[in-house]
Amino acid sequence: MINIKIDGKTLKVKEGTTILNAALQAGIYIPNLCYDRRLKPFGACRLCIVEIAGQKKLLPSCSTPATEGMEIRTETPDVIKARTTVLELLLIHHPLDCPVCDKAGECTLQDLVFKYGASSNRFEAKRKSEPERLDAPIVEYNPNRCVLCGKCVRICLDHQGVGAISFIDKGIKTTISPAFHEPLDCEFCGQCIDICPVGALGSKHYRHSSRTWYMDEKMIICPFCGCGCSTNLSIREGKIIRARGIEGIGINKGDLCSRGRYGFDYIASENRLKNPLIRKDGELVPASWDEAIKTVAKRLQEIKDKYGAFSIGAIGSQRCTLEDNFMLQRFMREVIRSDNLDSASRFGYAKAQTAFEWAFGLESLPIKWNSPLEADYILVMESDITSTMPVWGLNFIMAKNNGATLIVADSRETKLARNSTNHLKIKPSTGLAFLGSLAYVIYEEGLY
Ligand code: SF4
Ligand code: SF4
Ligand code: SF4
Ligand code: FES
Repeated sequence: MINIKIDGKTLKVKEGTTILNAALQAGIYIPNLCYDRRLKPFGACRLCIVEIAGQKKLLPSCSTPATEGMEIRTETPDVIKARTTVLELLLIHHPLDCPVCDKAGECTLQDLVFKYGASSNRFEAKRKSEPERLDAPIVEYNPNRCVLCGKCVRICLDHQGVGAISFIDKGIKTTISPAFHEPLDCEFCGQCIDICPVGALGSKHYRHSSRTWYMDEKMIICPFCGCGCSTNLSIREGKIIRARGIEGIGINKGDLCSRGRYGFDYIASENRLKNPLIRKDGELVPASWDEAIKTVAKRLQEIKDKYGAFSIGAIGSQRCTLEDNFMLQRFMREVIRSDNLDSASRFGYAKAQTAFEWAFGLESLPIKWNSPLEADYILVMESDITSTMPVWGLNFIMAKNNGATLIVADSRETKLARNSTNHLKIKPSTGLAFLGSLAYVIYEEGLY
């Protein structure tokens, strides 16, 4: 640990911590546009500059490691002057069209311009005036608002392991695009939209559907897979209009996959069953909840009277909450007085759980959310984790990017296989033989 001072506050931080990370850990905000906790420093925006005692130049805090005894000041007159100049330069091209921009109200550039008052400009140049790109199914891009911070490019390649977009062209023409200006064709996770600090990347579903300050925000747990990502829903007049991750919140700490981000439209779908239906004379007829509940209660009573309580059973669902399933078992045991209870999960993970208990004698999986971030070698056998648990799957890509060797033995070209150090393309269903051979070599060569 080393000792540093930021704005007069004494801090103890791990050696190698950047000044920006040290400040954020201590709750001190340093303006930034191209920094993100999940990405390596990029040094593109120069807004995070700070003054360091004994240094002639202002230095970018996102890429400067703190050293023992360092004294840092984040808001001196020189720092403010330099930041205001950077903002002026950005505003040569940025249109500040906040009245028609979906990002207004939660835009870092808007906040910084407001804070540093850089809306007038000493520089003159022909303003960028490129058409919006609306040719992709979900993601839209406004090149005029883009501040070229590169966060979208880096989250897509380094964190998502996709690499669908990059910087294209040069100078004033520089833009973000798939290769050869092709339409975007990717996994549409939407991570680039969330990470964009301005309104350059947006979601077509959400486009012009509400000003940010008119929406109610509600945090839920995404129901689509076992990751259990915290998802922030924005609701306008009772309708969900967007879902996003919030930096640092939940087990996912802000990451979301395409299912969690876009899989909510069925809730307001016209095709969704919204009323109970009761079969009358062979036809399903819409009914009120009151009528439906009375009908079910009457039929259950009739069956119980005629055949006994044990002729009635119930199957809970793994899609329901724990509380829902708990109420179902209480209803069955205390009202119906039957123990005939089962769960739909018996057909899925319960079998895997039993096999695991049988093989290793453990009742719960010893896998932690942070695995395998600290591992040096990772072997993935015939498993498409980035598809079954997309956000947890990102850990494998991060571990590989941090230097781990990732070996994927799979007959398929999975996303993890594409991001692996070695893809062992075994024949389908030969995983057991592969593991047996591996065990044989380990045993024969005394590698255990
Ligand atoms: S990106 Fe931000 S600053 Fe730019 S127009 Fe949109 S809200 Fe305004
Ligand atoms: S939506 Fe996801 S995969 Fe597509 S470009 Fe953005 S970050 Fe990359
Ligand atoms: S689109 Fe957004 S995230 Fe990507 S470079 Fe431009 S401003 Fe940065
Ligand atoms: S955040 Fe440091 S240069 Fe952009």
